[in-house]
Amino acid sequence: MIVAATALVVSACATVTSRSGDATRGKAVVEKWCSLCHDVGGNSAMATAPAFADIVKKLGRNAGYLRDFIDDDHFPMTMHRLFERERNDVLAYLVSLREGRAETD
Ligand code: HEC
Repeated sequence: MIVAATALVVSACATVTSRSGDATRGKAVVEKWCSLCHDVGGNSAMATAPAFADIVKKLGRNAGYLRDFIDDDHFPMTMHRLFERERNDVLAYLVSLREGRAETD
């Protein structure tokens, strides 16, 4: 029971933290690390890495999905580990690219 309560508190905090990301700082992180493979709106350096503007247009690519994705490595991106603050900033930036889509889209 205590474990369940703790998990709830932790996940509530995680939600608050993810909301506090800074999209401008996130853009800088994306340009530094992610742009090795992904472009934001044009052609990606790596053909198999979709552009972020295209990713966020796909159904279900909402903040929750993106958060989970950013928290894990994805092949072939296995070498970078972002700081928690950087992840929040990247999330804020990617969410800003969604331009008014509903949270659940
Ligand atoms: C070494 C190359 C590489 C780097 C660097 C990289 N990615 Fe990716 N990423 C890929 C590839 C390839 C895919 C498509 C395959 C897949 O979904 O696993 C992908 C897919 C994604 C997707 C999911 C697309 C979807 O439709 O579900 C997201 C979100 C994403 N990357 C975010 C990031 C972020 C944020 C960074 C920087 C912190 C980053 N990537 C850095 C190669 C990379």
